Amino acid sequence: MNPPVRAKITAVGTYVPPRLLTNADLEKLVETSNDWILTRTGISERHMVEPGKATSDMAVEAARNCLEHRGIDATTIEALLVATVTPDMLFPSTACLVQHKLGVPQCWGFDVLAACSGFLYALAAGASLISAGTHRRVLVIGADTMTSIIDYTDRATCILFGDGAGAVLLEPAEPGEEAGLLDFHHQIEGVGGSSLYMPAGGSHRPASHETVDKREHFVHQEGQAVFKYAVLKMYEICQTVLSRNGFTADDVDCFIPHQANLRIIQSTGERLGLDPKRVIVNIGKYGNTTAATIPLAMKDAHEQGLLHPGALVLLAAVGAGYTCGAQLLRWAI
Ligand code: UT7
Repeated sequence: MNPPVRAKITAVGTYVPPRLLTNADLEKLVETSNDWILTRTGISERHMVEPGKATSDMAVEAARNCLEHRGIDATTIEALLVATVTPDMLFPSTACLVQHKLGVPQCWGFDVLAACSGFLYALAAGASLISAGTHRRVLVIGADTMTSIIDYTDRATCILFGDGAGAVLLEPAEPGEEAGLLDFHHQIEGVGGSSLYMPAGGSHRPASHETVDKREHFVHQEGQAVFKYAVLKMYEICQTVLSRNGFTADDVDCFIPHQANLRIIQSTGERLGLDPKRVIVNIGKYGNTTAATIPLAMKDAHEQGLLHPGALVLLAAVGAGYTCGAQLLRWAI
């Protein structure tokens, strides 16, 4: 029997809208301070889409950037996966909208709804299509317009989130090539559902005057509960995926964590025993862009020279659901 084909990332593309929302801007909206936000989260500014633009618009920009880096045409894409919690609308899927806008003919595709773990879940799903041998070029996109579901009167959540998109291209590794996704460890734990959620707009509480008046179409979060879970889980899932593949922290060339809070990232890095120089932190300039944080951080890791062919890369995220995931891959480009 032939060994399964490994999926490797052959290009990364990103997009953030130019409009900025700084801590100084937020000081004018709610009772907060630049000092509080920086100390508790590490965030200085975030990006916001222009009115009238949506998640599919950012996703298309990131996808174009990714295809440009690879030097290929959108017509060669065979599957397109979009991770998002802020689809343009409930249906059709954002994947369908992106496929049409990007000019990809008749490919397969779907949305993945796993909040901050969404990009990792979509990446694993895309890699499985490659490994199964059914698809050879899979575009995986993480994109969120978080500013569309944020209550700018709630100081505990409005300081955290921003908009952005990132895309990677997955292709089969050559036979014998070391590059590609080595392993993933994902878990969902619905017990955490009420700690981070959007109460209305689905079949449980369809939109009504009451749901609007009660501000139920916005993100609701019990920050401390999520924080405690994230700190515990980020470490646990990373440790599991490292040890079951025979690696230690010293083997990791680059750790690319979901960017939710600088303190969560630092705590995870320290507990794993990672060299801080190998831990990617860009939350300061983007905030939490949900499904887009990891591809946006991949771009920064590349610019910092931490990603080279053969580099061992650890990815990890925790998010609403709860959802969590850690992945190990050998960088290809
Ligand atoms: O990616 C999705 C997963 N999400 C996360 O990982 C987020 C996890 N949670 C967090 O990052 C943190 O819990 C927050 C940044 C959201 C909050 O930080 P915290 O250190 O947990 O603060 P806290 O909720 O315990 O609040 C401490 C105080 C409270 O005041 P009192 O009760 O002590 O008087 C809050 O009302 O800080 C107050 N506070 C603020 N003060 C100034 C809350 N938000 C603000 C604010 N500015 N923006």
